[in-house]
Amino acid sequence: MAMVLGLARFPLTISTSHSLRLLPNPRTGSRRSSNNGQLSVSAMAGTVLVTGAGGRTGQIVYKKLKERSEQYVARGLVRTKESKENIGGADDVFTGDIRDTESILPAFQSIDALIILTSAVPKMKPGFDPSKGERPEFYFEEGSFPEQVDWIGQKNQIDAAKDVGVKHIVLVGSMGGTDVNNPLNNIGNGKILVWKRKAEQYLADSGIPYTIIRAGGLQDKDGGLRELLIGKDDELLKTETRTIARADVAEVCIQALQFEEAKFKAFDLASKPEGSGTPTKDFKALFAQITTRF
Ligand SMILES: NC(=O)c1ccc[n+]([C@@H]2O[C@H](COP(=O)([O-])OP(=O)(O)OC[C@H]3O[C@@H](n4cnc5c(N)ncnc54)[C@H](OP(=O)(O)O)[C@@H]3O)[C@@H](O)[C@H]2O)c1
Repeated sequence: MAMVLGLARFPLTISTSHSLRLLPNPRTGSRRSSNNGQLSVSAMAGTVLVTGAGGRTGQIVYKKLKERSEQYVARGLVRTKESKENIGGADDVFTGDIRDTESILPAFQSIDALIILTSAVPKMKPGFDPSKGERPEFYFEEGSFPEQVDWIGQKNQIDAAKDVGVKHIVLVGSMGGTDVNNPLNNIGNGKILVWKRKAEQYLADSGIPYTIIRAGGLQDKDGGLRELLIGKDDELLKTETRTIARADVAEVCIQALQFEEAKFKAFDLASKPEGSGTPTKDFKALFAQITTRF
């Protein structure tokens, strides 16, 4: 059951199935909350840091957080000044390298929640000629192997977040981690899924409320148009529905901050193709489907 409150600037639909705990916005002092014009009043999540904020999914999360300024104080962490400029260059974007704890600590001061969207990124070896039927080869730059970025770098972030007492960490990983022979592990000899999984385990063991989202193949498409699918243990990889739009992953990251049902959970995430199924709007119900802690 829901009721609509017609406050002049902030028409709110309050879902009576939610437990309400409106905290003042630390920036504006407001206790009013909107959620992208939809829902349900829920807890003010406070200051949210998204790392990898210059990345393809990270920058969507950063933008969405900024658009919901009644609910969140957005903060981003990027690796370079160029990335900072690419996402608008605001003062709330910090630069630092996740392999170097000291460099990232300023970004973590006084945050309430953390969304991790950093990742080692393989580079393509030059000289590849598709016209000759060649397959591209990939490598990781020295010092930027998944062990350093996805394991040490994510561990550094989890430790830094724990030190400042964050209330929730959302970590985006990848499907495929149940199988050490997954071809992604061969890319650049980086064993990327192995190191990502190690970081996921570290987070699950940290005692901090967490949400681990193991995404399917990422696509640069509009979000909000598809029915999202929850899976476990890479079962979705054996189906036809094993991709998801980056914009949908970004939305799920932010929605996870809002619902107790998302906490202490790890799950696979994909979507039905656009036009088949019903676009997901009820994220509380989506998270309630998850049965797995890891
Ligand atoms: N591609 C897929 O199909 C797929 C499928 C499933 C899951 N995933 C996972 O989903 C997540 C998001 O993917 P995406 O493609 O949106 O990400 P992305 O565009 O590759 O972004 C990764 C970000 O991590 C940053 N980063 C790397 N090393 C860093 C360091 N040492 N310090 C600070 N930042 C660092 C990069 O910064 P720079 O821009 O400075 O390099 C980049 O912005 C990743 O974890 C990815 O593995 C991907």
